[in-house]
Amino acid sequence: MPAQTYRARRERLIAEVGADAVIAVAAAPVRLRNGDTPYPYRQDSDFWYLTGLDEPEAVLVLTPNGPVQSTLFLRPKDPERERWDGDRLGIEQAPEVLGIDQALDIGTLDQVLPELLSHRQDLYYLMGQHATFEQHLNDLRLDLQQEAGGPGGPTTVVSLQPLLHEQRLIKSPEEIKWMKKAAQISASAMVMAMQRAPHVSNEAQLHATLIGAYAEQMATPAYQPIVAGGERALILHYIDNNQALDPQSLVLIDAGCEIQGYAADISRTFPVSGRFSAEQRAVYEVVLDAQCQAIECVRVGRSYHDFHEKATEVLTQGLLELGLLKGSLDENLESEAYRRFYMHKTGHWLGLDVHDVGDYRIDDEWRVLERNMVLTVEPGLYIDHGDDIPEAFRGIGIRIEDDIRVTRDAPEVLTAAVPKTVDEIEALMQ
Ligand code: GLY
Ligand code: MN
Ligand code: MN
Repeated sequence: MPAQTYRARRERLIAEVGADAVIAVAAAPVRLRNGDTPYPYRQDSDFWYLTGLDEPEAVLVLTPNGPVQSTLFLRPKDPERERWDGDRLGIEQAPEVLGIDQALDIGTLDQVLPELLSHRQDLYYLMGQHATFEQHLNDLRLDLQQEAGGPGGPTTVVSLQPLLHEQRLIKSPEEIKWMKKAAQISASAMVMAMQRAPHVSNEAQLHATLIGAYAEQMATPAYQPIVAGGERALILHYIDNNQALDPQSLVLIDAGCEIQGYAADISRTFPVSGRFSAEQRAVYEVVLDAQCQAIECVRVGRSYHDFHEKATEVLTQGLLELGLLKGSLDENLESEAYRRFYMHKTGHWLGLDVHDVGDYRIDDEWRVLERNMVLTVEPGLYIDHGDDIPEAFRGIGIRIEDDIRVTRDAPEVLTAAVPKTVDEIEALMQ
């Protein structure tokens, strides 16, 4: 994104803290799997949001009201190290590329940070997010306070998360553009996996289809995909993706990519063979109805809770009609008997993180939806092997998940390109 985007984000944050505050945010560290084999690097989403820098060993410091309001400490160019680890942006380029007032060598952090903290009252940082950096900041703050005759350091620490995460919750047009791109790549990968399912024998092959399709579009998985054949769909966080696929069963895929940091999150459940059995179809129709009715509730001015409530109600009614629950709708909602078959919430915010930041409640009330919030709607039913369950329903697990933008009027389904009615799925898979 252009430098002005990051600059505007920082300025907005600066405007919200007092003139004598200081804000410090660190980049994600490289994490080693062993020896000199790192895990793939993923920048901290908050740091990325504020800087646009996708490199480790960097610290952003914002000093409102000063001649220099943004200082970025980062790694200098170093041909020797870059031969091993790849290009660095470097100190000279940073101001222009990232819109930073001042760029300094990360090696000077210990000398310069005390100056930036001195004479400041409130120190804002991401509490609990980066233990080493947090410790370092607090040690420094206490040293400054104890220095006799010194300038003094911040006396209070304040969590940066509420302000920053409130900002991240409402997506800008540029962010929505990237989220649509992530949705489009994830949707086409899901379609490929659906078309391939009748021709493969193992979950791993569908997993490979998904991540291969992401890679071809320069995207990476936003989370470990779930490819759960048959009753493995009842394991909500199943990620082994290594079992044989039974042509008689369903397969639940929950997978999405990220691009430019922005995530998509899609679930589809479909028959391995391309044809639903009567029981699979009956359960599927209930989940689909719940999902479609829940999506209709994702509108400006509605409470965050409405779509979950709607999904729960439709699922419970469906369970009664299938004979899997007994009694009245009200009784079952009241007793939460549906939780045996539906034990998770119906969605979450989506953005730079797949479970994105932002409060769901304000002052103990579910918050009200606003334009350009983006969230998932993902009801499901997971039917166990209880003696009271008719044989043909046992082990059926279904989830349907789409990514929804709150607009001025009708909800916008960013992932609508993946078929989800029974007829559409069967037609696609022929
Ligand atoms: N893929 C994670 C989720 O659906 O919440
Ligand atoms: Mn998901
Ligand atoms: Mn989700």
